[in-house]
Amino acid sequence: MRIELPREAQRFGGNLFYGVQKVYELDAGLSADQLPYELQFVIRQVPYEALHEIEKQMAIIVPMKAERLRLLEGVLFAIPHACQVIVVSNSPREPVDRFNMEVNAVESFRTFTKKNLVIVHQKDPVAAQAFARAGYPELLDKDGLIRNGKAEGMILGLMLARLAGKKYVGFVDVDNFIPGSVLEYVRAYSTGFALSKSRCAMVRMLWHSKPKIVESQLYFTRYGRASILTNEYLNRLINYRTGFETEVIKTGNAGEHALSMELAMRLDYAAGYGVETYHFVNLLEKFGVVRKSPYPDMMKEGIEIFQIESRNPHLHDISKGEEHIHEMMQASLGVIYQSFTCSETLRREILHELRRRKVIGKRATPPAVRIYPALDRIDPAVFAKAIDGQPYALVIEPPKPAGRAKAGKEARAKSRASGDPRKKGRKREK
Ligand code: GDD
Ligand code: MG
Repeated sequence: MRIELPREAQRFGGNLFYGVQKVYELDAGLSADQLPYELQFVIRQVPYEALHEIEKQMAIIVPMKAERLRLLEGVLFAIPHACQVIVVSNSPREPVDRFNMEVNAVESFRTFTKKNLVIVHQKDPVAAQAFARAGYPELLDKDGLIRNGKAEGMILGLMLARLAGKKYVGFVDVDNFIPGSVLEYVRAYSTGFALSKSRCAMVRMLWHSKPKIVESQLYFTRYGRASILTNEYLNRLINYRTGFETEVIKTGNAGEHALSMELAMRLDYAAGYGVETYHFVNLLEKFGVVRKSPYPDMMKEGIEIFQIESRNPHLHDISKGEEHIHEMMQASLGVIYQSFTCSETLRREILHELRRRKVIGKRATPPAVRIYPALDRIDPAVFAKAIDGQPYALVIEPPKPAGRAKAGKEARAKSRASGDPRKKGRKREK
């Protein structure tokens, strides 16, 4: 990918929020084609090999609930082969077992492509038990199962990505009618990580446009109604703290985003549609200047937040109506409203905004949004043991104790050199 370097950056404590970067070439060639160093200050070529190296270390989590199989297939076809794919489904199993249909689709796709791919149901009781045993009961409802919601599915996916030993983790929604855009999102995630200098990085997509039909013509809108509002209030949150006006945040609601695992394990997560907005809020809470950071080392090293504008438009299911937009506005502004980083003035402005738009009642305040604590408190070994034997446990990277791995390698090399008869014998037995 060839990409412009960020023209602006806003620092807040340990956070470095970069301005939006445009993509100049979706495929910028191999490393041999690299521009001379002095030409690399405005635009950077990230060669194919570099992207591939990152994708080998990346899991892509695909949350879905009752989406059409055709859409799921489109997304799966588009994710680069090197990535580990984790589909987390919350589709109904009654009266028709939709999950079963998804499993069949995923399995035949895996057979044809030899892709690393697992699928798990959000209501899988074994997965729920694993969270309970590993010390994370917050995710479970009164029936002892993982709660409903996209954020909750993302958390399950994150845990599996961690067990897969991945260094990066990205998310793509299934309700996407343009599979090629998914390939672009993943390539953009890899590009962001290739540019990043810190262990802790996040890459967020800004859709080029969201096409709609207006007066029988295609009309390419720039931002959704909820996104405009979320971005405005996130920028104000920063403005009031720094005393300088900024418009740097343009991806407050980015469902398509990726994190380095180091960062993913240390952030808290908001339930429901507040999840993406809360990333920013929690970055300010944990690595801002309002309170002491629980991770002083990371605070010192810095957290980089990239915002990349896609070239593909984003065409998704927009039939959800006004109520859904209100739900998103309430959740997004709600997580800002309830944060300790939010000033009284901004709280009043949020209340006024939500009441004026009739998102909440005239005297109401936004209902509290549930916040899940950082996943770094989960013991991965306990979690892995609890899901042992389940089909989705295939993701788990087998432990490689350094000493034994080396000894094994040496032994294999020796046996190759000496033509170890035991090995030959075993081969003949087959
Ligand atoms: N596993 C799981 N569990 N997946 C879910 C659930 C759930 O309970 N609910 C929804 N999903 C899946 C959907 O099937 C879809 O693939 C993805 O999550 C996004 O859900 P939508 O309901 O389509 O959300 P949206 O399109 O309105 O909003 C998306 O874009 C926003 C930015 O415009 C989401 O990604 C938002 O989080 C994002 O802010
Ligand atoms: Mg959608």
